[in-house]
Amino acid sequence: MTREKPKNLWLSRWGFILAATGSAVGLGNIWKFPYITGEYGGGAFVLMYLACILAIGIPVMMTEIALGRRGRGSPIDAIGRVVRENGGNPAWKAVGGMAMLAGFLILCFYVVVAGWAFAYTWKMLDGSLAAPSVEALGAVFEAHNASPLQLGGWSVLVALLTLLIVGKGVQAGVERAFRWMMPGLAVMLLALVGYAWTNGSFGRGVAFLFSFDASRLTGEAFLAALGHAFFTLSLASGAILTYGSYIPDGQSIARTTFIVAIADTCVALLAGLAIFPVIFANGMDPSAGPGLIFMSLPLAFQQMPFGTLFGVLFFAMVSVAALTSAISMIEAVVAYLNEKYGISRPRAAFGAGSVLLVISLSAMLSFNVGADWKLFGMTLFDGLDYLTSRWMMPLGGILMAVLAGYCLRGEILREELGLSPAGHALWLFMVRYVSPVLILMVFLHALGWLGFDPLARWYWIAGAIGVLAVAGELFRPRGLKAQARV
Ligand code: PFF
Repeated sequence: MTREKPKNLWLSRWGFILAATGSAVGLGNIWKFPYITGEYGGGAFVLMYLACILAIGIPVMMTEIALGRRGRGSPIDAIGRVVRENGGNPAWKAVGGMAMLAGFLILCFYVVVAGWAFAYTWKMLDGSLAAPSVEALGAVFEAHNASPLQLGGWSVLVALLTLLIVGKGVQAGVERAFRWMMPGLAVMLLALVGYAWTNGSFGRGVAFLFSFDASRLTGEAFLAALGHAFFTLSLASGAILTYGSYIPDGQSIARTTFIVAIADTCVALLAGLAIFPVIFANGMDPSAGPGLIFMSLPLAFQQMPFGTLFGVLFFAMVSVAALTSAISMIEAVVAYLNEKYGISRPRAAFGAGSVLLVISLSAMLSFNVGADWKLFGMTLFDGLDYLTSRWMMPLGGILMAVLAGYCLRGEILREELGLSPAGHALWLFMVRYVSPVLILMVFLHALGWLGFDPLARWYWIAGAIGVLAVAGELFRPRGLKAQARV
């Protein structure tokens, strides 16, 4: 069996871990997690999110990394090679194509949010956030969004920085940036949690995040939690697969995945613990929506000693975290254009960047002149988020799980994953039965084709997984026997 030779590799053993954590930790953790947790009512949502990370996110992430390293290339090429090695259907390459498209479309709205973080670093400095109340800060946020010039200018700045770095090649730059950025962000968040502990309504914040109200366990919230699990771990969007293709042979994929997933989850929970106590202490509504952190945190910065310095550093860290995620979203496209058509990285970044600028500037208009341009009741900004998180990423995840669980010869991924027999059996069970059934149920519910809420009848779903697992093991095609013999 011939294996594809790697063209690019991470500089050190920590290279992938740093870069993948950099991709995973971003606005999803600090901006999106708190605001959707607020919208879906707290503890029940957090529980579903954690369950999705464990049952679906981690197995799918391992699969993606294994596919990337085995195929050594951008998503389309890597999946194509792995499938070819198995004599499988080349149509699977479409899954790689969809992942790349998802990453690119996410970037189109992500640069707008990252632009908020950049702008707020500046606003902390120039004093425009010295507003006395949540309402006043809300007005600052609205005024910022109402100006296409401001909002567009910051979005363009983020897009250009991203393209510049990706054009140069991610390995050296990203690895180096990460060595100081991740610890810095962790220290900032811990200090903010410390502040919330002593000055905010910490008890209420904790209760909101972790107390569990069964009536909030709904299929709709589960779909949001599932989509967010994919979003926050950068799954099925090309990033992890492409970064995985730069991992040297012999590095443990499982250990790496766990480190990334745990770091990502800790940052999200810390962000929640830092933000909700401040929100409750200031009588703010936790379901305030996308502006949540931009309206609440500046208030905390005003009240704490050295608050301005702290606030500047905090928003600067968030901006860097956003940038490292943004870079990973377009890396797959640039790697693909470079490998497939021999286009140099800077040119590929420039080409993809032109399309990016057009779409992201249109998405930016959703906050001002285009607020009423709606399709299916959504602005372009909301639509891009909805399409990618709720549909494209979970669909990509289900397809990768099915590819790995049913369609590839067992020994290939066993070799790549290098798990213990029990670990491999567990991974296989997850990608064969648990992930596809759960994702499918959630899809059917979202489409209105499931007459009941899947979470209200969770025992049906557990039963379906059990029956499928037994039937699958009894009637497994011959080629797959080898994979189960662990
Ligand atoms: N994981 C990133 C975050 O939580 O901010 C978002 C993301 C990065 C999504 C890269 C998709 C991707 F390919």
